[in-house]
Amino acid sequence: MRIAMIGTGYVGLVSGVCFSEFGFDVVCADKDPAKIAALERGEVPIFEPGLDDLMARNAQRLSFTTDIAGAVGSADVVFIAVGTPSRRGDGEADLTYVHAAAREVAQAMRPGTVVVIKSTVVVGTTRQVGAIIAEAAPDKDFSVAANPEFLREGSAIEDFMRPDRVVVGVEDANAEAVLRQVYRPLYLRETPIVVTSLENAEITKYAANAFLAAKITFINEIADLCEITGGDVQDIARAIGLDNRIGGKFLHPGPGYGGSCFPKDTRAIAALARRLGAPLQLIETTIAVNEARIGGLADRIVAEAGGTVAGKTIAVLGIAFKPNTDDVREAASLTVIPALQAAGAAIRAHDPEAAEAAEPELPGVTWCADAYDAAQGADILVILTEWNTYRAMDMERLGEAMSGRVIIDMRNVYRLDDMRGKGLRYVSVGRSTIDN
Ligand code: UDX
Repeated sequence: MRIAMIGTGYVGLVSGVCFSEFGFDVVCADKDPAKIAALERGEVPIFEPGLDDLMARNAQRLSFTTDIAGAVGSADVVFIAVGTPSRRGDGEADLTYVHAAAREVAQAMRPGTVVVIKSTVVVGTTRQVGAIIAEAAPDKDFSVAANPEFLREGSAIEDFMRPDRVVVGVEDANAEAVLRQVYRPLYLRETPIVVTSLENAEITKYAANAFLAAKITFINEIADLCEITGGDVQDIARAIGLDNRIGGKFLHPGPGYGGSCFPKDTRAIAALARRLGAPLQLIETTIAVNEARIGGLADRIVAEAGGTVAGKTIAVLGIAFKPNTDDVREAASLTVIPALQAAGAAIRAHDPEAAEAAEPELPGVTWCADAYDAAQGADILVILTEWNTYRAMDMERLGEAMSGRVIIDMRNVYRLDDMRGKGLRYVSVGRSTIDN
């Protein structure tokens, strides 16, 4: 079986490389010549733990090209994994790239090809793609399928190789048989394969992301309540999470969710549903609450600074939207840092991987070598992303480097007991403040 993957973004590249690890011949195609040239040299354009090793190990079965037609013409299965960015204005998913890919596939595909949409697409898109292909290539027999991807950045390979489930939307037996074969290596792990309709597969992806975004937002609001009532959100998250109906995952409070998926996908499904006359009010509220939370972070820091940050120095640890990625899309840092700068603060920042990606977006920031360097002369130190390197910092050393003594930990990296007696004011999320 030969697989063509169109689009070498996060999902396309990780999926392509993992399919080659499954033992298939995979050709990854992308219009961007610089990206393809780098991939051909064995360079991975994103920071994703383990991806470079996996790519090197499967070099024999993996190829990269800008010749999309050539890739499609030699494949039995074509995955479309191009971007579906938020459309300006209404926030709905922009399907331009998906539609363009469908037209290219129609011209170049062999009869009998299964065309699989892996991009996150709103309900109805896969069927639309089928219609585009049928119109452009009326004489060719083909199948379409929807196969959304649930991988998380930073643990993408593990998520692809050991998924909780695989969702496959199909309309005919051929597409089902081919996709079952593609995911056959997961049978050993007894991974459930949910075979359903095209529309169900498409909605599942949005429903899953929206549910998780709502779950995070829920615990963030409970954290707010804890802060004014003297509660501890960590205990509450654990206690409710032990109820199997709720589950303990995605109950970590923080600055608000970010990244390339949750913000974009919640907006897209909410905008579509509203247009269709079935507004998803819970999701709309989730979006609004999360945006307000991120927007209010700077005020929280200003309040800790005694009402103004003018002329003060704030150290920010963690710029990426989450650890183990260099991705800064919709990261809280991109909102909070400019707001603090506008209020007159100087920013010293550190991130183990994302500094390069963030630099153009965050002018005026002083980029530091590590956490202690960032802390030099800082009045307040803020932990925004829970990178492992921030989990066991020497508080005495940090305190000595800082000119102030306030640490705001937006990820609850430290236990309250461990922060007592350090001479610092330790402010975290949904827990009491330690001040000694
Ligand atoms: C997400 C989905 O998890 C994945 O299934 C989908 O395919 C793509 O979108 P990703 O964006 O890579 O993956 O990261 P994820 O780990 O889900 O985190 C998203 C955001 O939520 C981050 O900003 C993270 O910090 C935040 N988060 C996550 C919390 O604040 N608390 C949590 O408990 C979990």
